[in-house]
This record gives sequence, C-alpha cells and structure tokens, in this order.
Amino acid sequence: MQDYQPAADLLKDRIILVTGAGDGIGRAAARRLGAHGATVILLGRTIRKLEQVYDELEKAGAPKPAIYPMNLEGATPKDYTDLAQVIESEFGRLDGLLHNAALFQGLTPIANYNIELWYRILQVNLNAPFMLTQALLGLLNRSADASVIFTADRVSEEGQAYWGAYAVAKGGAQTLMKMLASELETNTSIRVNSIDPGRVCTPMTLRIYPGREPEQWPTPETVLDVYLYLLGPDSQGVNGQIFRAQDWSPSTVVRAGSPDQPG
Ligand SMILES: NC(=O)c1ccc[n+]([C@@H]2O[C@H](COP(=O)([O-])OP(=O)(O)OC[C@H]3O[C@@H](n4cnc5c(N)ncnc54)[C@H](OP(=O)(O)O)[C@@H]3O)[C@@H](O)[C@H]2O)c1
Repeated sequence: MQDYQPAADLLKDRIILVTGAGDGIGRAAARRLGAHGATVILLGRTIRKLEQVYDELEKAGAPKPAIYPMNLEGATPKDYTDLAQVIESEFGRLDGLLHNAALFQGLTPIANYNIELWYRILQVNLNAPFMLTQALLGLLNRSADASVIFTADRVSEEGQAYWGAYAVAKGGAQTLMKMLASELETNTSIRVNSIDPGRVCTPMTLRIYPGREPEQWPTPETVLDVYLYLLGPDSQGVNGQIFRAQDWSPSTVVRAGSPDQPG
C-alpha cells in the first residue's frame, strides 16, 4: 500500500481493543495504533508479552495503554460481560475492536483431525469473536464513529486442503462480519469490515512453515496501513468489506451507499 498517508493524530482520543496483542500482527498493530494517538486495550493470554507491548507503547510516548489478560479458549459469557463492565468504568465507550487473536496448530488432513483441537480452534477463532462483539456492542454504540475489524485468511475462501478448523472458523467469521455489517448499517454508526493481512512473518507463519527462511515473508509492520484506515475516520461509510492488506489502495474502496456498490 503506497498512497495512504494516515494523519499523525489519526486515532487521537480513540479507545481501541486489540485481541492477541502480545505477538505477531496484533503486537505490531497495537504499537502502530498507539503511535497514531489511540489508547490501546491490549488483550491476550500471555501476560509477559502484553507487559512487553505495554512498555514499548509507554516508551514511545503513546497514550497510556491498558492490559486485559484473557484466554479466549476458556472464556465464558460472564468473562465477556466482566470485560465490558471494566471498559465501561475505565473509558465509558469503545471506538475500535480488532479481532486479531487466532489459534492454529498445523496443517492436518480432515481424516485425522483431532476432535478436541477442532473445538478449541472454533472456540478461539469463531465463538470468541462472536461473544466479544456481542458483549461490547453497547459500548461501541456509545462511540460517534466505531469500527469493528475481523481478520480473514484467504485459505478459508479457497477451501485449501489441510487447513482444517482454522479455515472453517475464518469462513464462519467472514459470514458473521457481513451479517453484523448489515444488521448495524441502518441504526448505528458502527462499521464492520475484515482485513486479510496476507502471509507475513509471525510466530504463526513460522509454526506453519518450519524450516523456511523468515525473510521470505513481509514483516507485520508493512501491512498495517489498512488497519489505520479502517479504525480511523477516513473509512466512514465503508462497511461489510474484506480488504487485502498487501494489495490495497483507498482509491479502490467502494463506500456503502455508493452507486458502484455491488448488489
Ligand atoms: N501471519 C499470517 O501470515 C496471517 C495470514 C492471514 C491471516 N492471519 C491472521 O492474522 C491474525 C494474527 O496472526 P499472527 O500471524 O500474528 O498470529 P500469531 O503470531 O500466532 O499471534 C496470535 C496472537 O493471538 C494470541 N492468542 C492465541 N490464542 C489465544 C487465546 N486463546 N486467547 C487469547 N489470545 C490468544 C497469541 O497469544 P500468545 O502470544 O500468548 O501466543 C498471539 O498473541 C490471525 O487472526 C491470523 O489468522 C495471519
């Protein structure tokens, strides 16, 4: 992405929650959002990693972030309600929600797929974003300009062999994104879209392709402009779309209500 120039204070005064903020794309996104003025709520399961990102944000002079340790695999509906209550008492509203956390253990044929692992992956990658979004809708509704982002992976669209529950969950999450976008379009100021970051060098990618040279993939930092675009005011009116982070330009965006919008 070459032609998007996010303003230095693009996300000033915005409260944005990032799941899986301790590593990979989530970590890079949290740092970049903070650099553009957002107050970032760092949600993840490994406290040590979240603290590291917290320190990096503080050191860089970003608005004071918040840490919310949470394991999405075991989280109950009450855990999500508790989170919403904490955000309400600390901040009073939520301006952005980035569903980034994901569980993926490795390529496996369906014939041998471990059933417990199937459930775990669906829990983290599909059920958790549903429950989290549902619990936070009230707080998102209090924002004048809220944005929810799901994270896509094209292996789900292609039904690629061996990607198992991960790809199935990603496909389900895309349906959820489009459904939410339609449901929220008329009566709220919440927009809902997805980003497919494309293959980038993160712990997940290194787990999937062990032995490959890490340098062959772009770094997470290089795919973040579309995250800023969707979480900031420049994307008002953009709803229900999937963005390919490595092949994106704002000039190609079709806004909701535009005559060019596909039916
Ligand atoms: N990397 C790619 O090439 C690529 C391509 C397409 C789509 N994506 C998508 O982009 C997103 C980020 O991927 P990534 O490559 O950055 O993944 P990653 O390196 O594996 O990082 C995932 C993050 O999610 C957290 N997480 C995992 N399970 C969790 C749980 N049960 N509760 C809370 N947090 C949990 C991890 O926590 P820990 O740090 O504790 O492990 C980690 O911080 C994912 O949605 C992925 O599907 C990635």
